[in-house]
Amino acid sequence: METKEITIDELDPEKFIAEQVEKISSAVGNGSAINALSGGVDSSVVTMIGHRALGAQLRTYFIDTGLMREGEPEYIASAFKAMGVHVELVDAKKTFFDALKGHTDPEEKREAITRSFYKDVFGGLVRETGARYLLQGTNYTDIEETVAGIKRQHNILEQLGIDPVQQYGYNVLEPLLQLRKSAIRAVGRALELPEDLYSRPPVPGPALAARVIGEVTPERVAIVRAATTIVEKELSQTGAFQYLAILHEDRVTGMRDGKRDYGLQIEIRCWESTDAKVASPTRLPYETLEQLADRITAGVPGVVSVTYNVTKKPPSTIEAV
Ligand code: XMP
Repeated sequence: METKEITIDELDPEKFIAEQVEKISSAVGNGSAINALSGGVDSSVVTMIGHRALGAQLRTYFIDTGLMREGEPEYIASAFKAMGVHVELVDAKKTFFDALKGHTDPEEKREAITRSFYKDVFGGLVRETGARYLLQGTNYTDIEETVAGIKRQHNILEQLGIDPVQQYGYNVLEPLLQLRKSAIRAVGRALELPEDLYSRPPVPGPALAARVIGEVTPERVAIVRAATTIVEKELSQTGAFQYLAILHEDRVTGMRDGKRDYGLQIEIRCWESTDAKVASPTRLPYETLEQLADRITAGVPGVVSVTYNVTKKPPSTIEAV
């Protein structure tokens, strides 16, 4: 792998920001660029670096893939508005759900998401705006896992031999390529992002699609979204690196109101990690686990089983897909 990591100990955030601002502005020159803000730490940091470099030459979009967490589009648009960044909302739900239809294999699902982002959505935005550059927040862990063949992260192109200019008609700039999550957070702090933006648990680019085992349909995403809202509320005080809910494909026999209920299973994961490279499950108090099970089975229609993952990464990975 050619990219060299800048570790948190080596990082000088102010210097890093100045260098990336310079690189972006000299690459884009008088042209224009676009970027997609997902609300995750990485894309939030890229948005702010991009705006420092390009000001009005950069247009920032929030792509509503239909795979986001509850209230996310509104929350992100208003948080960035408060920082003087206008975020344009793009409703791409149909594009993503059509592309995901019928796919159950994890890599096929990731491929469908990649194609929808780069070809359909960004391709369309580039044609509309005349932009020649796309800024994105690919990080060091994303490349490492893709190159190692563990997961094809949705945002990896060049490392897989994909030339974005040839394939999609625009260049991709990736200012965070050398950083892992803890270093990206330090840059977020130096950019004066609000703390709840740079310290939020990571959300993968494919968002809730990475947490639905089997076919990703609007109905199945709605179930995992409702469970996610509960998990995030209950676990936000743990200080854990990341916590999530996963919807399983298999059903199990349960019972409700004295009757058989062949229902859904939700798995909860909560991780201790600094860089997402290795991770171990948080030792949550049993009362917390019980409360999560009660709230999810009461609040999410059709769920009859809630489990907690106790496997480390490796051999597990953080997300299920
Ligand atoms: P895994 O599941 O591989 O995840 O242990 C490591 C970290 O990366 C996030 N993740 C992704 N981020 N695109 C992203 O931008 C993806 O396709 C993707 N898959 C996983 C995951 O949430 C964790 O923090």
